[in-house]
Parts: sequence; structure tokens; C-alpha cells
Amino acid sequence: MKNNIGIPQLESPLIKRVVGNILSYEIDWDVFEMQVKKAGMFLLCNPHNPLGLIFSRKDLRKMAELCIKNNVLIVSDEIHSELLLDDNKFTPLAKLSAEIAKHTITLVAPSKTFNIAGLFCGFAIITDNELRDRYEKEVNHQRMHVGSMGLIAAQSAFSGECDGWLKELRGYLTDNRDFLVEYVTEYMPQVRLTVPDATYLGWLDFTQTGLIGSPYEFFLKIRQSRFQ
Ligand SMILES: Cc1ncc(COP(=O)(O)O)c(C=O)c1O
Repeated sequence: MKNNIGIPQLESPLIKRVVGNILSYEIDWDVFEMQVKKAGMFLLCNPHNPLGLIFSRKDLRKMAELCIKNNVLIVSDEIHSELLLDDNKFTPLAKLSAEIAKHTITLVAPSKTFNIAGLFCGFAIITDNELRDRYEKEVNHQRMHVGSMGLIAAQSAFSGECDGWLKELRGYLTDNRDFLVEYVTEYMPQVRLTVPDATYLGWLDFTQTGLIGSPYEFFLKIRQSRFQ
């Protein structure tokens, strides 16, 4: 059990599958069920950082129901939920049912999608009044406030005015993802990677490459041999 600023932390590692050099991950339900019985709060990252995985509605529902059954508060970090690749769709966890929404704090921010992290404007969506009061009290206690520039930027980002830009961004990120997967598969077949559904992140596993010593030298050598 890890200890994070005095709060014990439990983990529920995902199961890794490998087909060729492509990695995929799924929930280990035995471990999840065991851990959720001992937890007070479940922190979900969906879409997942760093895997770029969008959890299915079925998996989301099952995780949420196990949390509710065990009286575990759910915090769903959905900060990457707009960076969808291909035609992928995203379902906010709290949209699955009113009961799930009641037990969920959803975290969102324009910082990733619109690249405005420096303006500081993250927020929480909490439908249950009592839970929202508790949350607000804690936020005020910690004096966490939003900057006015961040607020204006967030309003503009989510107003619909930027939807055209976002659509172009998604296409651009999808092309980047495709390039990465094709390049790595063709030129670096010992490197394994996920094919992300969302985010701008790449998750590359170099354990099969025999990489020892400086990663800098390793990548420099590859670059030199390809582009000489
Ligand atoms: C999954 C996830 N949640 C939250 C954050 C925090 O983002 P911000 O500080 O822009 O609100 C990050 C930043 O890397 C992240 O990857």
C-alpha cells in the first residue's frame, strides 16, 4: 500500500495484452473488486493517461456499480475527454445514471484540449448538493481559486466558438497517432505501443529493445541511421 501525502494509496493495475507490437490493456476485475472493498475513493482517469484508452460504457458501469456497492466515492478525471481520435465517442461516467452521478465528482479543464494550462482553470462537476457543499468547503479552505483570465479562456473554449478549431485538432492528432504507429511498427518493431483512442499521448514500451545506458544516445543512433 503506497502512502501519498499521508493518504494510503491502493492500485488496480490493468492487464496488458500484446499482439505483434501492439499493446492493449483491460481491467483486472479480480484485483479491482478486491481493492475497491478497502478503498474510500476511486480515482478514474478516462480517457486514460498515458494509454489513451477510452473505457467502454460496460466497464464504466461495472466499475461505478462496484464503487457504489462498497460505498466508495468516485472521482472521474475526464480532462482528456475532448481529444478524441478517429470518430471515437466519449461517455462521461456521471451520464450513465442519476445514481452514478450522485456518487461522482467529475473533473474537467480546458487546459489540455486548448493548451491553456498556464491560465489555471480546472473545475469539478458535482450533482449531489451535499457532496458539492463538502467539496466547496474544502476548496475554500485550501484557498484554491480560479484566475479571471483562466475563467474567460474557459468560457471561450467551451462556448462553441472554438469547435471548428477542435475538429481540425482532432484530425491532426489522429494523423500523428497513425504516423507514430506505422513508423514504430515498420522501423522499430521491437518497440511496443498502444493505439490510443484519445489524447495526444503515446505509450511506448522499450523493454524488448535491450536499451541500456543513455536513452539519448539510443535515440540519436536510430535517428542518425535513418536520416543520414
Ligand atoms: C489526467 C490528467 N488530469 C489532470 C491533469 C492536470 O491538468 P491541469 O493542471 O492543466 O488542470 C493532468 C495533467 O497532466 C492530467 O494528465
